Amino acid sequence: MKYLNEINVSNKRVFIRADLNVPLTDELKVGDDTRIRAALDTILFVVNNGGSAIVSSHLGDPGGKRDASFSLKPVADYMSNLLKREVLFANDCVGPEVSKLAKALKPKEVLLLENLRFHPGEKANDEGFARELASLADIYINDAFATAHRAHASTVGMVKYSKLYAAGLTIKRELEYFNKAFEAPVHPFMAILGGAKVSTKIEVIRNLAKKADKILIGGAMANTFLAARGLQVGKSLFEPEQIETAQQVEGTLAETNKLLLPIDVIVASDISEPSSSKVVGIDAVPPHMTILDIGPKTIAMFKNELDIAKTIIWNGPMGAFEHKGFERGTYGIVDLLVNCKNALRVVGGGDTDRAIHEQHALEKLDFVSTAGGAFLKLLEGKKLPAIEALKAPGGAGGCC
Ligand code: 3PG
Repeated sequence: MKYLNEINVSNKRVFIRADLNVPLTDELKVGDDTRIRAALDTILFVVNNGGSAIVSSHLGDPGGKRDASFSLKPVADYMSNLLKREVLFANDCVGPEVSKLAKALKPKEVLLLENLRFHPGEKANDEGFARELASLADIYINDAFATAHRAHASTVGMVKYSKLYAAGLTIKRELEYFNKAFEAPVHPFMAILGGAKVSTKIEVIRNLAKKADKILIGGAMANTFLAARGLQVGKSLFEPEQIETAQQVEGTLAETNKLLLPIDVIVASDISEPSSSKVVGIDAVPPHMTILDIGPKTIAMFKNELDIAKTIIWNGPMGAFEHKGFERGTYGIVDLLVNCKNALRVVGGGDTDRAIHEQHALEKLDFVSTAGGAFLKLLEGKKLPAIEALKAPGGAGGCC
């Protein structure tokens, strides 16, 4: 696969598929700019090397039709401020008007196209739509790592209709860190997994078990494992239909003692009543209470493992950290990671990313992925369709 920095973009129109799928506030302002900032390197590489950038993205899922509340216009304004240069905005992403705007672009100019998902052809990976997008530019750069698990027109389809194509600098960085941490980890390699459901992470656990020395489990998904051990989990969220799977996984990993489950938890009678919360051992969860976080002894046990780690991967919160009173486990893991300065620390996933932002720890870790679903797919050992498409013969090969 070729990367943008191997291509001569001078005097070329470069189509950049970025992932600018950022949260918008009720006033339709950018709520979190992490993904916009992540896209800047690639855009700046193009304009600083004499090309013009035609930037595109999806935002949310407007269902294949125009919907002003999903417009990328606020992102264009925000990006203008960050880049300290005008970012032109096209009211659509295809059509004669857009084509005219794209053709008129001068070197160093930046044009942001309207939400790709205003057209059903985007998610359907429609050939005609992909061809139309590709016709806007001389070079196709995919930099949308967080959307690389989707085979859409702008992530996969366009490759076929672009003479020159390559991956952008976000994808380069994401894959470099992922490979360092996951494909060639320095041991001891510890993985921390949390979140609500075992069902969405079972393939990740199976795949991680082949590589990691320990897998530390928290969040509601731990409840299913606790229930699978025959423990009472009270009114806690768990997946009864996953109990057998959890038992199988524990059985396979029992010998190596790889799986570490909480030894104590924070329970409460209701998520909105943090004053009712208390710490209990995992064998003493009252029937009328709900597990909402990991307890202090568990954090101390996890600390012992993380202190000796040389590589750490983390995905998923340890509890209901978005509710006051149940954030200590998740924030505790952020603190532990910040202090594990001898380990390579790679983190991914939307909620995990939020906890890191809330704790102002973004700059204190080695790498925080911009992706949720795509990061999980890689952890599962799956290939990402958009990355595979860029590997097809012809990718910027011998171009310039
Ligand atoms: C994400 O936020 O994970 C990516 O932007 C992909 O978005 P999607 O789940 O709506 O395809």
